[in-house]
Amino acid sequence: MSKDNTYYITTPIYYVNDAPHIGHAYTTLACDVLARFKRLDGFDVKFLTGTDEHGQKVEKSAINAGVDPQAFTDKVSQNFRDLAEAMRFTNDDFIRTTEPRHKKASQDIWRRLVERDEIYLDKYAGWYSVRDEAFYGEDELSKDADGKRTAPSGAEVEWVEEPSYFFKLSECQDRLLEFYDQNPNFILPKTRRNEVVSFVSGGLLDLSVSRTSFKWGVPVPDDEDHIMYVWLDALTNYITGVGYPDTDHADYQKYWPADVHMVGKDILRFHAVYWPAFLMAAGLEPPKRVFAHGWWTNEGEKISKSLGNVIDPLQLIETYGLDQVRYFLLREVPFGNDGDFSQSAMVQRMNGELANDFGNLAQRSLSMINKNLDGVVPEPGDHTAEDTDLLKAADTLLPTVRDNLDVQAFHVALEAVWTVIRAANAYIDHQAPWKLKKEDPARMATVLYVLAETVRKLAILTQPFVPEAAGKMLDQVSVDAGSRNFSSFGEAGILKPGTILPKPEGVFPRYVEE
Ligand code: MSP
Repeated sequence: MSKDNTYYITTPIYYVNDAPHIGHAYTTLACDVLARFKRLDGFDVKFLTGTDEHGQKVEKSAINAGVDPQAFTDKVSQNFRDLAEAMRFTNDDFIRTTEPRHKKASQDIWRRLVERDEIYLDKYAGWYSVRDEAFYGEDELSKDADGKRTAPSGAEVEWVEEPSYFFKLSECQDRLLEFYDQNPNFILPKTRRNEVVSFVSGGLLDLSVSRTSFKWGVPVPDDEDHIMYVWLDALTNYITGVGYPDTDHADYQKYWPADVHMVGKDILRFHAVYWPAFLMAAGLEPPKRVFAHGWWTNEGEKISKSLGNVIDPLQLIETYGLDQVRYFLLREVPFGNDGDFSQSAMVQRMNGELANDFGNLAQRSLSMINKNLDGVVPEPGDHTAEDTDLLKAADTLLPTVRDNLDVQAFHVALEAVWTVIRAANAYIDHQAPWKLKKEDPARMATVLYVLAETVRKLAILTQPFVPEAAGKMLDQVSVDAGSRNFSSFGEAGILKPGTILPKPEGVFPRYVEE
């Protein structure tokens, strides 16, 4: 398999101090859709997710729960696997930073940095936020109403003074700027890229990369008093996942550098500044893209535990259905922007776009074949201009969706699909096949064939987004499992005249207020 045909995508690894919420589900969903799309498009895909289990924040949560950190992480890490199953995520691997393979990788990257003289021992005196697991300069902080210093994220900070190893980040500025310059799409969206470039242009300080005041982490090689800074440990998961430190490992060879690290906007700096800096300094290749998506609010309010308005993805699935939630999250908001979750927006999309537009299109078309043609796929006659227009519009969707997903523009890809769905509904209304049954049965057969063919194409393309419903639609047009990928998309004759189709059933239920 050549490298151009592989695709490596990762989610952030999630802190296990929290129960999974909509933010976690969102980041992984975006990756899942890309991974599914690329597989259907013939790529050899590796999709990695997992949990970030070290650091002071997790240690504190374990202490609060009255258990030792390992037992605590064993328990809570499982919640993230359960979420993956409930959302039908298709990750190929699930990494935990407490696994031996990861300890080995983290210690190895550390040794590489030491060998290259990128790390030195000194003392850290400054502010630290446990919630963000980040060091802050005095000038980055503000004071809250009680005069307490807070980080830009609003998190509390504490003063820390301890011996620490430092990474020579200050020497990475030129290399990073050159890298951003040569790889204009390394950071997307563009506005985020500009923020990072201006941050790096402002000059970089060396970064504290070890801690001594607690123990829950990967030990620094050859200095037992220190554990590695949790972000250096955590970021390394992306190469652990492909076999590092064995750089000859088949997966490392095939998949590294990663095609996309998907992250939320709050953790962009770690991924777009520190991570490529660590890799370059260690003599390893940086990833190809970091995409920073926005944050969700709930009915207009910031989501927070203290407000008690955290959205539980499992609850959403139960209320609205899995495909509905998957569709809504990627359709509602231009990917990269912040977005608001509201019941009314959710129901509008689910009833209007899934049930009425897409669901009805399939249901009307296939039930006419069922009723008027005894369920037999008809032999189409000559095509009119309208037939050709609709079929062409459906055909051009593949390159359109592909190009948009290559820049993570899910909402644009879906809008393009729905433009064709609406055109197909307009086509039915205009052709009125129900009238043709008596007037011109041959023409009715052609119209119904064109519709079934359009439904087939739409269902193939929407599989990554709404896998269950699209799968059922493909069953209803009798497309076998081997013909559901994109190499069969434009192939004529997959929908064989003479095939008997099963009785169609609606695949997108409406939400009815109880
Ligand atoms: N452990 C680090 C990541 C290390 S990656 C090497 C971490 N974990 S996290 O659990 O806090 O992050 C979760 C992800 O969820 C982040 O991408 C974050 O942006 C995202 N979200 C958290 N709250 C969110 C919303 N309200 N909305 C959307 N995404 C949000 O950071």
